[in-house]
Amino acid sequence: MDKLIIRGGQRLSGKVKVSGSKNAAVAVLPAVVLSQDKLTLHNLPDITDVHTMVSILEDLGVPIRRRGANSIEFRPSMLRGYTPPYDLVKKMRASYYLMGSLLARYGRAEVPIPGGCDLGPRPIDQHLKGFAAMGANIEIERGLISLSANRLRGAHIYLDVVSVGATVNLMLAAVMAEGKTVLENVAKEPEIVDLANFLNAMGASIKGAGTDVIRITGVSELGGAEHVVIPDRIEAGTFMLAAAITGGDVVIDEVIPKHLEAVLAKLREVGVDVEVEPERIRVRGMGELEPVDLKTFPYPGFPTDLQPLMMVLLTAARGTSVITENVFDGRFRHVDELKRMGARIKVEGRTAIIEGGEPLSGAPVTATDLRAGAALMLAGLAAQGETVLSDVEHIYRGYDHLEEKLAGLGGLIRRERRDHYRARSRKPV
Ligand code: EPZ
Repeated sequence: MDKLIIRGGQRLSGKVKVSGSKNAAVAVLPAVVLSQDKLTLHNLPDITDVHTMVSILEDLGVPIRRRGANSIEFRPSMLRGYTPPYDLVKKMRASYYLMGSLLARYGRAEVPIPGGCDLGPRPIDQHLKGFAAMGANIEIERGLISLSANRLRGAHIYLDVVSVGATVNLMLAAVMAEGKTVLENVAKEPEIVDLANFLNAMGASIKGAGTDVIRITGVSELGGAEHVVIPDRIEAGTFMLAAAITGGDVVIDEVIPKHLEAVLAKLREVGVDVEVEPERIRVRGMGELEPVDLKTFPYPGFPTDLQPLMMVLLTAARGTSVITENVFDGRFRHVDELKRMGARIKVEGRTAIIEGGEPLSGAPVTATDLRAGAALMLAGLAAQGETVLSDVEHIYRGYDHLEEKLAGLGGLIRRERRDHYRARSRKPV
């Protein structure tokens, strides 16, 4: 696995442009199989998860044509098969969105059970409950989820848990189901709205995306469309926190500030200076930081994906801060790594107590997932001395050239490729 070598102490400054949203891209790409006509997606981020999803579509027989770095044209009428390849599916959890879209297109889908990950258990019971309510037969054997339905029928489904993934999957399944579907207690994330906009552009009839009730009237077929993926609010938040953590002055361009209201409010509460314009945000980490209490919640609450990065900022706020992680069981794998850098953090169940005020020290640390990896990058930029971050492939799954963008803001950060390390390890003893 590659490593990042980071030297701390530089205040970041300058302007950075946010890429397209990973979590919107991995939701709209599976929707491609629903159309009989040509589709074009723009502003796709250049990240591993997008490359994997595009490879899955190609493997299912969908010809693609790249139109520039971040635009791809698809011809899904050539689709054949409903069994995405295991070796690709196992690389990314969001490939389970193909359950909903292949079931809607074909009445069949065979998708490997998604892997867990370092955020704790990640069940899919709400996805399966919704598919069953729409009349799908579901069998789980040999590590495969096999779904089938002559034709899905609309249903009234109430999610027991607010789930982004279940909301996406059930929208994909319902758009061509017979009759009306009502999805209640759904996720309201901007990525859900982006998917609904794309599906409606293809001819779907979806109302209420972004609220907690989505109403869908099934249509007989979907056609072509062009769509521009929304900016990545989590990447934007990552740069906002990078500016705050290094005491820098950074302008984050091409963002939608409305998507970041909870993050803006919390940064102001900590004492970070933020200026908001219609499509950009300027963050200056000027003076003393105040300890705060932070609770993560589904959108529009504070996003769980920025919780690890906020924890790094709070290690610099003199006093006691408390973080409560309400979305995932066990999203504290980054704590042990931060403690190796001198952070004083105690975890009790879903709560982390941070005693801030002492500077972090550079150390060898390991990324356990992409947001923990990003948090450790920021910790390295703020720490005294050098940090060597391992297993950085996690970061490239969801961030488009993150270390280059941070280096462009003055961060002392460079990537060392695995073979370089192998060469060094062969040094004569
Ligand atoms: C999506 O994951 C995002 N991933 C995550 O971002 C994000 O952290 C998460 O939503 C919450 O915002 C993508 O969009 C690809 P959930 P998802 O279903 O859909 C429980 C990142 O770093 N649950 O909203 O898997 C679940 O265990 C990633 O970009 C059930 O109990 O999250 C969790 O506790 C990490 N049963 C809670 O709901 C289910 O059937 C929220 O999970 C489904 C979920």
